[in-house]
Amino acid sequence: MGTEKKPAGAAPSPPQPPIRDPPYADYLYDIYRARLMADQLPIATTDSYRLEEQARKVMTKEVAATENGQDAIPARPAAFGYIAGGAGAGTTVEANRRALDGWALVPRMMRTGRKAVDGTEMDAATASLRDLRVRLFGGPGRGPPVDLSSPVVMAPVGVQCAYHPDREVGVAAACAELGVPFSISTASSSSIEEIKASLDDTSVEDSAGSPSPAPWYQLYWPQDDTITASLLQRARAAGARVLLVTVDTFTISWRPTDLDAGYLPFLTTNEGNAIGYTDPVFRKKLAEGEKSGDDDDGKNEPLTPENNPLAAALGWTSEVFPRRARPWSDLAILRKLWGDDGAILIKGIQHPDDALLARQYGADGVVVSNHGGRQVDGAVGSLEMLPEVVAAVRNAEAREAREKESVGKEPFTILFDSGIRTGSDIIKALSLGAQAVLVGRPVMYGLGIAGREGAKHVLAGLLADLDQTMNLIGCSSISDLGPHMLRRGGAPFKASL
Ligand SMILES: Cc1cc2nc3c(=O)[nH]c(=O)nc-3n(C[C@H](O)[C@H](O)[C@H](O)COP(=O)(O)O)c2cc1C
Repeated sequence: MGTEKKPAGAAPSPPQPPIRDPPYADYLYDIYRARLMADQLPIATTDSYRLEEQARKVMTKEVAATENGQDAIPARPAAFGYIAGGAGAGTTVEANRRALDGWALVPRMMRTGRKAVDGTEMDAATASLRDLRVRLFGGPGRGPPVDLSSPVVMAPVGVQCAYHPDREVGVAAACAELGVPFSISTASSSSIEEIKASLDDTSVEDSAGSPSPAPWYQLYWPQDDTITASLLQRARAAGARVLLVTVDTFTISWRPTDLDAGYLPFLTTNEGNAIGYTDPVFRKKLAEGEKSGDDDDGKNEPLTPENNPLAAALGWTSEVFPRRARPWSDLAILRKLWGDDGAILIKGIQHPDDALLARQYGADGVVVSNHGGRQVDGAVGSLEMLPEVVAAVRNAEAREAREKESVGKEPFTILFDSGIRTGSDIIKALSLGAQAVLVGRPVMYGLGIAGREGAKHVLAGLLADLDQTMNLIGCSSISDLGPHMLRRGGAPFKASL
């Protein structure tokens, strides 16, 4: 779990940044302190099971302008539905929760021997802290490792301007303040460069001494390789070294909530297209295509997103949602464009054979994910498949090690998402072999309820819950987790999520 032995001949690893101090768990006391000292209650519920309902209430009514200059925000029921909805009857959204609730933690008591994630004894200064650090990648040719201060990554989520005017730039800053990498979605409503500027404006070192993590970039894979090259080059210029290639959404599924509202943001409100509209190669292609038609002055202008938003939206969506899957062999194109010193993760994997194919075709890892149940209805819960994926990959690695074929190969990275709501959920996924998790909807509900501060509150709460629960189950570091911490069954199924 982030501590695997380096293959012989690998460059010596740089030291990990220090364990986070004050710990994430302190947010719990911050909340009580705010009540005691300033009579303030949390800006959004701390109960992840009630977040969706609270977001529905806030987002379906107009929010009045505030005295401190915040403009009024119109009601946005379709945007709320876009976050909450799933594919079809929503059975996969439920299956994701059922899969997580199907495992139960078995806490251990009075454990005093405390080891850091690298196996060293924790000294007196760190003995009251949990070591939640995770180290990813850093194998031969992949450049320095990617160090995380916790096993939590902000999932790529598109169209954030629809949920709150603070949009991606606000959420990215909130993530940076907590040491959590922000994944830039190709369907963002802020450009890559705006998000990078927001991260730069947020303090480089957060209060707990963790360096502000570089963003990750998520690709909806354009049809046109010259556009892909341009997007990836911009992402690298923004500091991204981890590329999430989403392979489960080459077209949008049957989503009744959005269909009933007639809401597909990319087309009906022209939201979520900022990365395309700011891309010089896409703009050139658009301009060289059809003309805008005679305008009022009789001019026949080259097409731009400004003079013909609908044509631009159609052009961009046909690039990034091309309606057909790419073959595995096309991963070679991305490797060439992303470079050998960047990591490529395939997001949207459920079947163990697909994880093995991703590995065979040169990816560095996968995200076991079903897009939060948003793409295929009636599908298996994402966590249900995690143990099989882990077993298939680790068995293949062990077999190659025996046959001496793995010399110089880095262990394959396995991340997880879909349905994570609590600290215990994260612990379950890590115990079943994930190295880190991505979290989507809860943070978006926080954004919808109270903008950047709401997103930060939800993420800080999730991290505090994780940290506190680790302590309470007797685990001082991520490397203490494993299947031995779990039992099958035991927790009731909560159908409300
Ligand atoms: C509103 C919304 C928009 C999303 N947009 C994207 C996206 O642009 N790219 C992507 O790879 N995944 C996208 N996802 C999927 C998330 O990255 C992630 O897989 C999912 O939210 C995890 O499930 P959870 O919401 O239960 O945490 C989106 C999810 C939501 C809820």
